[in-house]
Amino acid sequence: MPDFKELSRSVAGLTVLVTGAASGMGRATARVFAADGANVAVTDVAGEGAQAVAAEITAKGQIAKAWALDVASPDEVRAVVDDVAAQFGGLDIVVNNAGISVRLAIDDDGYDEAWAKGLAVMLTAHQRVIRAALPHLRKSKCPRIVNIASTEALGATALHSAYSVAKAGVTGLTRSLAVELGRDGITVNCICPGPITTGMTDRISAEHKAVYARRRTALGRYGDPEEVAHMTLSLCLPAASFLTGAVIPVDGGLMARNA
Ligand code: NAI
Repeated sequence: MPDFKELSRSVAGLTVLVTGAASGMGRATARVFAADGANVAVTDVAGEGAQAVAAEITAKGQIAKAWALDVASPDEVRAVVDDVAAQFGGLDIVVNNAGISVRLAIDDDGYDEAWAKGLAVMLTAHQRVIRAALPHLRKSKCPRIVNIASTEALGATALHSAYSVAKAGVTGLTRSLAVELGRDGITVNCICPGPITTGMTDRISAEHKAVYARRRTALGRYGDPEEVAHMTLSLCLPAASFLTGAVIPVDGGLMARNA
């Protein structure tokens, strides 16, 4: 029998880049990684929001720096990814989290524009961030990619076709890159959050949220962003080295529930 293999359950000392980290699940992800001792690159199109989250983290004596990054800009993506790696001395983990709400009917005016923007921010950006990060990930001893999709990738809600297509694309990208990058030891996984209390769901009234969650989820409530962030961190542990190509709902049992 081989000796028992000790595998680390900490991301301390690793560098993580989180997109869309000024709010919601991205902010929670930045906070959770920093609390575990990672160096955190807090990036967001809202540069001031990113600064504020980095300040929350450094105020606790933890390590973070902020970058303004519009993930739909290929030039910004390349420049920021390389700068993060230069400033922290490498890059180990990418969390593709930035997203926007896209809600309109297939025959609404402006559908083409909304479709293009939704795919640019929530699908094309994922591959661009990954391509920019790859040279750095290939030098890492614990290279990890986590893509944030949605339960809208697995089932559908009316008026969300562009959003749903982007998120379904993320699951395809995840599986495909898991296979392609596996020989480099890079793991690629995807989380599909269900209904989570964040900036994106702010406009939904508390009453509507409660009714929806009781009807649709097993746990009968909306999730908190930290509950998704901890799954993201789990996927990035050195101990998670044999988990790749997985598409994991973190949805309070929404996908499991029929009635
Ligand atoms: P949020 O609105 O609280 O945060 C999204 C962040 O992304 C914001 O800080 C925003 O400034 C940033 N962002 C938007 N466009 C960007 C761009 N072009 N470049 C860089 N950053 C940009 O929303 P939430 O809920 O935390 O969303 C995080 C991810 O989770 C998104 O991909 C979203 O689609 C997904 N999701 C959210 C669910 C929910 O119920 N809240 C459910 C399923 C998936």
